[in-house]
Amino acid sequence: MSIEIDILNGDASWKEAEPLFNAIWPPHVIATLPWAGVVFAHAELRVFVRDEVDGVVCHVGIYRREVTWNGRKLRAGGIGGVLTREDKRGRGYATIALEAALRTLKDEGSTDFAMLFCEPKNAPFYTARGWTPFEGEIFVEQPSGRIRFTAIAPHVFDLRRKLRQGTIDLCGQPW
Ligand SMILES: CC(C)(COP(=O)(O)OP(=O)(O)OC[C@H]1O[C@@H](n2cnc3c(N)ncnc32)[C@H](O)[C@@H]1OP(=O)(O)O)[C@@H](O)C(=O)NCCC(=O)NCCS
Repeated sequence: MSIEIDILNGDASWKEAEPLFNAIWPPHVIATLPWAGVVFAHAELRVFVRDEVDGVVCHVGIYRREVTWNGRKLRAGGIGGVLTREDKRGRGYATIALEAALRTLKDEGSTDFAMLFCEPKNAPFYTARGWTPFEGEIFVEQPSGRIRFTAIAPHVFDLRRKLRQGTIDLCGQPW
C-alpha cells in the first residue's frame, strides 16, 4: 500500500481533517477526556497521511508561537491533534506524520523547541519517539483569562533549546 504525505494550510484543510476528528473524538467521547471544555488554538499547518484506498488516515496539526520561558521570548513549535483512523493504527502512520511535522519545524531553523500535550496513556508513545516530559508550569489563555494549564501533560522535543523546568507561557490558547 503506498501512502502520500501532504502538509497543508491549517484553516483551508480543516474540512479534510474534520471527519477524522469527529470519528475519534465525537462530543460524547470528548466529554469523558481530561481536556473536555478546554478551548484549543487552530492548527496553522496540517500533516495528512493518505492511503490510496481510504484517503486521509492520519493527521498531525502544527502550531508556531512566540512563547515565554521564565519571561524570555522563545519560538515554540506546537504539535497537536495526532490522530490515526482506528482501523489503520500500528502501521507507523502517526510516527511518519510526527516526523514530517518536526522536520517542518526544524527546517524553519528558528524554532527553539517543540511541545505537545498528552494524556498519561499516550505518554509512552511520545517518549519512545524522543519526547521528554516538561516538569515546569504552563500558562495559557482561555475565555476565562490566563490560567495554569494542567489538564494534559506537556512534553518537549529538543531543537535549539533543551527545556525541562521553569514556567512557559504559551501567550495564547493551548494546542
Ligand atoms: C496514538 C495514535 C495517534 C498512534 O497512531 P498510530 O498510527 O497507530 O501510531 P504508529 O503506527 O506510528 O505507532 C504505533 C506504535 O505505537 C504504539 N502505541 C500506540 N499507542 C500507544 C500508547 N498509548 N502508548 C504506548 N505505545 C503506543 C503501538 O503499540 C505501536 O507500537 P509498535 O510500532 O511497536 O507496534 C493512535 O493510537 C490514535 O489516534 N489514538 C487516538 C487519538 C489520540 O489519543 N491521539 C493522541 C493525542 S495526544
